[in-house]
Amino acid sequence: MKKKKIGIITTGGDCSGLNTIIQRITDGCNLRKWQLIGIKDGTDGLYASPTQTIDMNNEAFQFADSHLAGSILSNGRTDTTNFITSARAGKLAQFNNKLKKSLYDLDLDALVLVGGNGSLSLAHTYREIYSGLSLVCIPKTIDMDIPKTEKTIGFDTAVQQLVSYCDQLLLTARSHHRWFVVQTMGRDCGQLALHAGVAIAADAILIPEIKFDVDNLVKHIKSSKRDYGIILVSEGISIRGHSGKPADMIARKLNAANIPNRTAFPEHIQRAGDTVATDRILAAGFVDCAFKAIENNETYVMTTFENGEFKTISLDEFFKAGKFQKDPNIPGAITSNAYVEPDNILLQIATDMGIYMGEKKR
Ligand code: F6P
Repeated sequence: MKKKKIGIITTGGDCSGLNTIIQRITDGCNLRKWQLIGIKDGTDGLYASPTQTIDMNNEAFQFADSHLAGSILSNGRTDTTNFITSARAGKLAQFNNKLKKSLYDLDLDALVLVGGNGSLSLAHTYREIYSGLSLVCIPKTIDMDIPKTEKTIGFDTAVQQLVSYCDQLLLTARSHHRWFVVQTMGRDCGQLALHAGVAIAADAILIPEIKFDVDNLVKHIKSSKRDYGIILVSEGISIRGHSGKPADMIARKLNAANIPNRTAFPEHIQRAGDTVATDRILAAGFVDCAFKAIENNETYVMTTFENGEFKTISLDEFFKAGKFQKDPNIPGAITSNAYVEPDNILLQIATDMGIYMGEKKR
């Protein structure tokens, strides 16, 4: 087979597992004697003049560090021209043209784009940027909100980070006979809170997909045999007539009911942490699948894990399978999203465990 020249880029928010993917792609290219160019700072670095690149075959990072969180290629900057600033300035077409030109100048046979649902939706919508090369996307996100894949890179590590965090909080909660309201990330998808909540056997899990009743939550906590515990609150929930951080809103309600409590915000710690084994195995599977796709000259595809199988699907199939939302950052852009569905087995399991999960499935 002809030697190829490949690019790799990490876009959107970081998560643990990106470096494992980068390392597996580097190893795979070295095995095949293919050239690998790392594009720095996501699409921001691709836009920059000159394009920010690293020669990965010769300057690959330390193998022993590939389990560490973050991305050695970085994900983007806030102080440059990018999708968001260009769209807000009405200059998205110029921005996209420059990305296309940068890719043309790099003369790549294929680009591996590691991104979340925002980046994948943009790649689908503005596919013209990637014409002339084989675009293979790998889904990553701690939110697990990407349609058509049961697993995303970074999710399992984020769950583990939350579990470790809550395990520690429980010890101080017990010492002071009080409750912790822990606010998780996840945007408007409750997967992260749901998984971590089941893992720690939280007392309540509030997610955006399920309506809840604060009085019933209070009753549930008051009827607990314990006087300490954890209420996990997904950042995407809301209470009518209230504003501010969701954990603060719930804490105010608990205060009003004389339930001693504190709030806790693990924030970006959820995107950190040494990559857990299942995320590393997922990375190996996705990368294996990505190499096969490149060898078969597939393009505009995404690797997925469904029903125990790694395969590629078209970006079109990914996009059409989700629920559409306006991109919160990019005017005019639409993202395709997945959520906790009513038949999610963890909802039933959590309820059977006695966890308060809210009232009614939407
Ligand atoms: O999409 C990943 C995510 O970590 C969300 O869970 C969270 O709401 C958001 O990104 C945080 O973004 P930022 O790093 O810009 O604060």
